[in-house]
Amino acid sequence: MSGEAAVSAPGKTILFGEHAAVYGHPALVTALDHRMTVMARASAVFGRGTLRLEIPSMKIARTVASMHSVDSVKGPGDLAVLAVAIGTAGLEPNPYGFHVRIDSGIPTGAGFGSSAALAVAVVAACRRAVDDDIPLEEVGRLATTIERHQHGTASGVDVQAVLRGGVLLCRRLNGDIVEHEELPGAGARLGAFRLFNSGAPEESTGTMVGAVRVLLDREPARVREALAEINAATRDGCAALTRGDDAAFVPIVRRAEAALEILGVVPSHVCAAIRAIEAAGGAAKISGAGGRTGAGAGLVLVVHPDPAWHARFSKPGGWTEHRVGLGAPGVRTEVAA
Ligand code: PMV
Repeated sequence: MSGEAAVSAPGKTILFGEHAAVYGHPALVTALDHRMTVMARASAVFGRGTLRLEIPSMKIARTVASMHSVDSVKGPGDLAVLAVAIGTAGLEPNPYGFHVRIDSGIPTGAGFGSSAALAVAVVAACRRAVDDDIPLEEVGRLATTIERHQHGTASGVDVQAVLRGGVLLCRRLNGDIVEHEELPGAGARLGAFRLFNSGAPEESTGTMVGAVRVLLDREPARVREALAEINAATRDGCAALTRGDDAAFVPIVRRAEAALEILGVVPSHVCAAIRAIEAAGGAAKISGAGGRTGAGAGLVLVVHPDPAWHARFSKPGGWTEHRVGLGAPGVRTEVAA
């Protein structure tokens, strides 16, 4: 038996709540309107457990004889192998080899959700290729397991954004369970937000989550206060979004950013750029894990209620604007090419 499927998944951005999400606080997340497409072909011809993987944009073309032997993830290629292995482990008996091709318009390593999109789309495409469509919840659970190989404490909120699309308030409960509340129509009320790539940080998400954990052990009161501030900003941000109050975002974003800086996840040159934005009447915050060294802190959200302010905004050196719609649809089946 053989089959083929193509599935696409969007990128994501965390509007409010990164790092606090790891400790069970809510995060407000949205899907971005740029996508990764995964084509999966299953066939006994490839040999049981064999994977042919192609990611042309990264010049990756690998044949893996035993995909179940990969356990450490050093890059998107390893993550894809792990995603096929975990996503198809439930097929018993597993007679399939897979050919997987990934085409992505989502930047990697900068907080745009490329690893969550990869985990979700690979699982969904492989299962669909063998006519074993599993519920969204199950795709999400498997994708969160895959993400946890990158950093053991992944909150799973980015997987929910990619899976369901739109704008969501998510919160990690015990174990693999992440509860979510959809905010219908909220994508159209995010006009005050613009996305910039400030440059990729050296550190991985796992490294930054680990650094916050070390700081929490060292300075528990200060870090808990910062996490509580992030939690309050998330809830206030959600309320402002629900009432369509663009002006309210400026002080809320400033408050969230100040707390993230206390956590040590914003490099000093990005802090300086954000101070200049605040002095000009706007606000900005990192979105995602941030960083300490390297070109930048990944994705930065720049916020102001007035489109004319954004039109006048002169971006800091090394930043690139990422013009992309927010509130995009979640994972979906495409026509296989
Ligand atoms: O940098 P990203 O897009 O991987 O986002 C990480 C968000 C964290 O809250 C720092 C970690 C998590 O698992 O929620």
